[in-house]
Amino acid sequence: MCGIVGYVGPQTPGPRPLEVVMGGLARLEYRGYDSAGVALVTPQGLVSAKRAGKLGVLAADLEAAPLPPATAAIGHTRWATHGAPTDSNAHPHLSEDGTVAVIHNGIIENFIQLRAELAADGVAFSSDTDTETVAHLLARAYDGDLTTAMRTVAKRLQGTFTLLAVHADAPDTVVGTRHDSPLVVGLGEGENFLGSDVAAFIAHTREAVELGQDQVVTLTPDGVEVVDFDGNPVAPKRYTVDWDASAAEKGGFASFMDKEIHDQPHAVADTLLGRTDAAGHLVLDEIRVDETVLRQIDKIIVIACGTAAYAGQVAKYAIEHWCRIPVEVELAHEFRYRDPVVNAKTLVVAVSQSGETMDTLMAVRHAREQGATVLAIVNTHGSTIPRESDAVLYTHAGPEVAVASTKAFLAQITAAYLLGLYLAQLRGTKFPDEIAEILDDLREIPAKVQQVLDEAGPVREAAVEMKDVPSVLFLGRHVGYPVAMEGALKLKEIAYLHAEGFAAGELKHGPIALIEDGQPVFVIVPSPRGRDSLHSKVVSNIQEIRARGARPLVIAEEGDTDVLPFADRVFFVPKTASLLAPLVAVVPLQIFACALAAAKGLDVDQPRNLAKSVTVE
Ligand code: F6R
Repeated sequence: MCGIVGYVGPQTPGPRPLEVVMGGLARLEYRGYDSAGVALVTPQGLVSAKRAGKLGVLAADLEAAPLPPATAAIGHTRWATHGAPTDSNAHPHLSEDGTVAVIHNGIIENFIQLRAELAADGVAFSSDTDTETVAHLLARAYDGDLTTAMRTVAKRLQGTFTLLAVHADAPDTVVGTRHDSPLVVGLGEGENFLGSDVAAFIAHTREAVELGQDQVVTLTPDGVEVVDFDGNPVAPKRYTVDWDASAAEKGGFASFMDKEIHDQPHAVADTLLGRTDAAGHLVLDEIRVDETVLRQIDKIIVIACGTAAYAGQVAKYAIEHWCRIPVEVELAHEFRYRDPVVNAKTLVVAVSQSGETMDTLMAVRHAREQGATVLAIVNTHGSTIPRESDAVLYTHAGPEVAVASTKAFLAQITAAYLLGLYLAQLRGTKFPDEIAEILDDLREIPAKVQQVLDEAGPVREAAVEMKDVPSVLFLGRHVGYPVAMEGALKLKEIAYLHAEGFAAGELKHGPIALIEDGQPVFVIVPSPRGRDSLHSKVVSNIQEIRARGARPLVIAEEGDTDVLPFADRVFFVPKTASLLAPLVAVVPLQIFACALAAAKGLDVDQPRNLAKSVTVE
């Protein structure tokens, strides 16, 4: 939520600060897109421009009325929390005397008291935001040193915040701080960068520095200094980003979502890469938890939100089957508030693409306070959740830009499967040859996903044909159940369509009443080679809904002729081991949602009301 960029470079004023910041905002726009703004440090003092609407509105303004050359800049794309998305509520916010400009991601919870205090002192506010209080506080605390002023103000703030500030008298400085919100540093030569994530500066450098909780960073053209809120120096952790700018481009696709759906064979293959030793044993180097602790685990709780939680639900079936450990999957925002039974024998697995989801982060902290071991499955290096967990297993999906998660979902399931197999190896619940066989099956998934992508024409056609339907239902069973819910979520979020996923077995306990003439229902059919009679039960479900007028859209394994007589359409996917089937079965549903939203003329990558990374609770 909210994209933040900062830049400081050569002290001869020029166009680069604005160019870097606008370029960074374009890459971060997925984080929030209801307004955008920039502030530049120029020889004439601070200048700023901000506009409601997407970044393009601001860019057009800047083209019509160019800003003067500068030496440093900050920029922001907003996802509104306090105050409507208007020009005046857009960031940056300036102090009354125009000497300080501030941008903010998060929520300042004590802003009402701070605002009242400032108003009593005669400050006239020009916005409804919580952020503006910080600009006024910084101007008051400033005594020739912006870093000290930031430390002083940060200590007074409650809530969550990443803040960047520039001062008219400090043309070579950008100061940033973070508390429960993301901020990373990019290291250049004679110039340095700040961003909500590395996408902000990946076009300029892949060298980055992680910032920890409650730290203040001072950026100058040749230096990066980090201190804690008390001014004690901190040695920051440096890392190299393992993808480059082209990974965050559309690459000829109509939308990032479409591109990321097509990235999936790579996302799975890269997540599997380098996980076995010469003897074929799984070696998950990143999991630095003592093996004795992992052997003693008697319960696993997966915590996550949205799509990541559905990945957890898929993984539950496999991990329980392979490891014989009970696995609970819980929405992170519910977990913390229900007094969960967690102890030193609990392994909590936090799944998150961004590594910044506030609900998941809070649940991680709660779990650790209760003595659990926390392992994070995360896609974004340098993010907060892995830093606050005991161990991390990175997915290697590359940057996910579209708001609707696709390739991260497949990578999360893959990583969770690796974890399950690793625990099975460690605890001896599967023989080595059984594990090797499942790993071989996993290695075949990228080619199978590619086959689904190559044969997706009919799915797209169905989506275009159905662009005006009022509702789509999804049925699945066993691992197909979370796939059904994920299919429904994709349609809700990008096509604004009523969509619901159900466990097929639940149908006759209520949802069947929704079926009427012409109702499209996706049915994810388990493999006929799979578990007991699941296949025939789901085929019966298709008949039941068809008898009541539904249009069954069936996802079935190739060669499954049993479904043909009852389906309105069948989308065949390659034969896949039952537990791995979600990795291929979900792909047509992603393509369907993407194509249907595009056919409706909607912005597939930036759906209304949403933001990519949910950094407020
Ligand atoms: C859905 C979607 C969201 C995220 C959820 C968790 O397409 O993108 O439901 O999956 O907000 O986000 P992360 O994985 O970043 O924690």
